[in-house]
Amino acid sequence: MDERALHDVHPFPADLERRPDPYPWLNDLREAGPVQRVRLRGGTEAWMVTRHRDVLAAAADPRLSSDPRRVAAGARLLGTPASPSMLTTDPPDHTRLRRLVSRAFTARRVEGLRPRVRELAEELLDPVTPHGHADLVADFAFPLPVAVICELLGVPFADRAFFSRQSTEMLRPQVDSAGVAVAEAARGRLRAYLAELIRDKQLRRTDDLLGDLVTAGEENRLSDDEVVSMAVLLLVAGHETTVNLIGTGMLLLLRRPLRMAALRDDPALLGPAVEEFLRYDGPVMTGVIRYTTAEVEIGGQAIPAGEMVVLSTGAANRDPERFEHPDELVLDRRDNAHVAFGHGLHFCLGAALARLEAVEGIGALLRRLPGLAPAMPEDELRWRPSVLRGLQALPVTFEPVVR
Ligand code: HEM
Repeated sequence: MDERALHDVHPFPADLERRPDPYPWLNDLREAGPVQRVRLRGGTEAWMVTRHRDVLAAAADPRLSSDPRRVAAGARLLGTPASPSMLTTDPPDHTRLRRLVSRAFTARRVEGLRPRVRELAEELLDPVTPHGHADLVADFAFPLPVAVICELLGVPFADRAFFSRQSTEMLRPQVDSAGVAVAEAARGRLRAYLAELIRDKQLRRTDDLLGDLVTAGEENRLSDDEVVSMAVLLLVAGHETTVNLIGTGMLLLLRRPLRMAALRDDPALLGPAVEEFLRYDGPVMTGVIRYTTAEVEIGGQAIPAGEMVVLSTGAANRDPERFEHPDELVLDRRDNAHVAFGHGLHFCLGAALARLEAVEGIGALLRRLPGLAPAMPEDELRWRPSVLRGLQALPVTFEPVVR
């Protein structure tokens, strides 16, 4: 008998990432059993893995592929991009693509960026501090990581409104072919923009990551299409995620003024607090997607070959088997082995950078904006219409400081 016929199919809520609290749904799913059948927003059915230990095991299992081309079109996520990047390839292509850029993102190289990230944070706050009010997302959480990834890649910061519009369109949850067409058009515009930038770099050497990629020696040479896919991935991943981490982290602190004051007084507490923001309400809840290339068993469930499997890092990070009081925010939590950055070969390339940006960014906000308080009732806050989880805006007030 078909294994799938034995399962209830849970419809994936259309508004999951926009709910004030999406975790009851994820917790209920985990309580229904470690691996559940879900119908995603575009209609594709998939298996959703919700326990911490199963997410770790599945993310390290070579029979689970990251490459949607290895399964029939009907088993893929609606709107899967046609051009592969490291995120959607397996070894050996994944190894080759990742190796070319991994040196720029090591803990040591990223640590070298700390003074520049700190300087950028100060520059962004200088015009904000005299006003006494701000939108922490638009005025800070968004431009900080965008400025950093632009400098790293060699993409003009001045073009941010254009490329952010495209990446927002690309990350909207896809429910039908009309939505896919809009997202594909946005991807096309972003690819065309980056292809032109890369052509310029081929003519005129620039000292940045994209410049290095186009002038790499023969054995490291990427096709033009691969360089553009790499640029799209790094630009989108580099700025759609950390903005959410800083925004959500600040919301969680605004709800806890005493804890916020303690973090301002002792910046050494910021590192563990950022880890807890990642665990408690990180930017990627259900975004780690795999495809079975053989029959595999996960959490006691046999999954046939050729199926989509969603590893829910959001559900795993609230797993009571792994975390004590998982639904409580414990800013100095010890043993915080969350999976917010994934696990295995595809572990987030930008994890060290995201951590540094969040620690420096939140540290600067607490230092420079005394008396921070929400400027809007919490039930009026809106979350972004995106497959990632993040606030649309976070209006605050504070004591104006004129230097
Ligand atoms: C809080 C911020 C971030 C979170 C929560 C996050 C989360 C993740 C997750 C869960 C994955 C694994 C995907 C998978 O296994 O399929 C991933 C991969 C990746 N992330 Fe991040 N990310 C963040 C920031 C960044 C930044 C700042 C960059 C900058 C370049 C970045 C670049 C990448 C890349 C290139 C991959 C693909 C790695 C591979 O396939 O080998 N991420 N990220």
